[in-house]
Amino acid sequence: MSRDGGWYPLVLSADLEPCTVVGSVVHGRELAVWRDGQGQAHVWDDRCPHRGMRLSLGFVREGALACLYHGWRFGADGRCVHIPAHPDLSPPGTIRAAPLRVAEGHGLVWASVQDAGPLPGDEAAKETWLPVRSLRIEAPWDDVARAIGMPDGHRAGVLDRDVEGRVLAALLPVGAGACMLHVQAAAPAEVERLHDLADWAQDVRARAEERAGQVFLAGSVA
Ligand code: FES
Repeated sequence: MSRDGGWYPLVLSADLEPCTVVGSVVHGRELAVWRDGQGQAHVWDDRCPHRGMRLSLGFVREGALACLYHGWRFGADGRCVHIPAHPDLSPPGTIRAAPLRVAEGHGLVWASVQDAGPLPGDEAAKETWLPVRSLRIEAPWDDVARAIGMPDGHRAGVLDRDVEGRVLAALLPVGAGACMLHVQAAAPAEVERLHDLADWAQDVRARAEERAGQVFLAGSVA
């Protein structure tokens, strides 16, 4: 899961219930992340092929993602399967959303925005992870990675923090000055442990945003 490995941790698996859709952003590219009734996750560009409405504002019906605006439905392969205004029409195969490659592992839904290989197995795959929280941090990647103690060039890593247990911290580059941090604890973990890690994540955010603010001020003065 290197920084340029092509796989990005979009959301915690536990936060994507069956038959729901949420939005995500990778390097400014807006994505719709949804799960069908069978539990399969899908990631598409967050833009309806009809008139560009955000698909992440839509809803899941009968194994398809429906757009909020005119109700066009798109099946798991992205093809349009139903147009409410023309219920007897078989939509042409050229009308389709843009699916990305998806993988689920380490308690996260990942998408490949480049032509990446399979999601790598690593030591994180050997553990069972309990979701703690995801939070947005208004700071550049390097500042957040430094606040976490993440090795250079990685977007997800297992951190051994003190003697309390292991933590999986996964970092998503939302844009030049923002990241999403997903935090999970190795099972088993007490409720207090999960609360402690949620506090730690907030502390990471505060330190990273403070550092980003200092850099910005220094740049302004210069
Ligand atoms: S914009 Fe999506 S159905 Fe019309």
